[in-house]
Amino acid sequence: MSRKQPAGEVGIRALRAELPDVLQQVESTGQQVVVTKRGKAMAVIQPAVEPAAREPHIIALTSLKGGVGKTTISMHLAATLGAMGKRVMVLDADNELSAHRWQQHATREGIELPFEVMAANHNTLMRQARQLESSGYTVIIDTPPNHREILKSAAAVADVIIVPVAATGLDLDRLASTLEMLSELEAAKPNLSYAVVLNRFDKRKGMSRDANTALEAYPRLQTVIHHLSVYEKAFGSVPDDLSPFQKIWAEILQALGAV
Ligand SMILES: Nc1ncnc2c1ncn2[C@@H]1O[C@H](COP(=O)(O)OP(=O)(O)O)[C@@H](O)[C@H]1O
Ligand SMILES: [Mg+2]
Repeated sequence: MSRKQPAGEVGIRALRAELPDVLQQVESTGQQVVVTKRGKAMAVIQPAVEPAAREPHIIALTSLKGGVGKTTISMHLAATLGAMGKRVMVLDADNELSAHRWQQHATREGIELPFEVMAANHNTLMRQARQLESSGYTVIIDTPPNHREILKSAAAVADVIIVPVAATGLDLDRLASTLEMLSELEAAKPNLSYAVVLNRFDKRKGMSRDANTALEAYPRLQTVIHHLSVYEKAFGSVPDDLSPFQKIWAEILQALGAV
């Protein structure tokens, strides 16, 4: 550093020769250095502050293919996060309103779900999700199959996107087109975070094991959800087999550096 300058300052001329030292000083002290020109401050070299990793608040379940487990996973993940004490809203963006019907069925039976469900407005989905987030909700967006516009909106607003794929009849074409859409979106949102999760896994079936192997080619969660009747029967009740969903949440937090 230029000897005549006070600590934390460097003259513009001296900077040319001393840039490596200045940068090292900024890094090692964590203090800024002011660059001066004829005695006046003209620029500041500041240590970068890493954006604090945070837990995702908006999670989207997406796939162009139907019947892969989007609603089942939405509801189970919602129950998992609800059991952790979070306020959770499932935002049902599917016109078939499966999530909504699940909740209505529960209400009719006098069952209280540990999370809320509301129908999404397709035209304002992103704003709806943001408003819920600002009111303190963790939002899970359940999306319809074959609906590119909704998939795009949900993915654009989400902190994390989960793409379920069923091990029974793994449809790599449909998976590829969903991932292609997400990768296109990534061009506009470089921090887009998405992963495939294998659902309806049955290790006794060769097809299931093949699907599990094939998924190694994609960004994926290591946790798999087994094909179990408990998930089929969960409709209208409080999901209670939460262990894979707890693992999925832990994997997501780890991948985002939030733990
Ligand atoms: N892991 C699983 N084991 C057994 N059945 C499952 C599993 N996941 C989903 N299902 C069943 O598969 C069907 C489609 O699942 P769903 O969650 O409605 O898919 P999507 O919302 O993608 O259309 C439902 O009948 C559901 O109960
Ligand atoms: Mg569904």
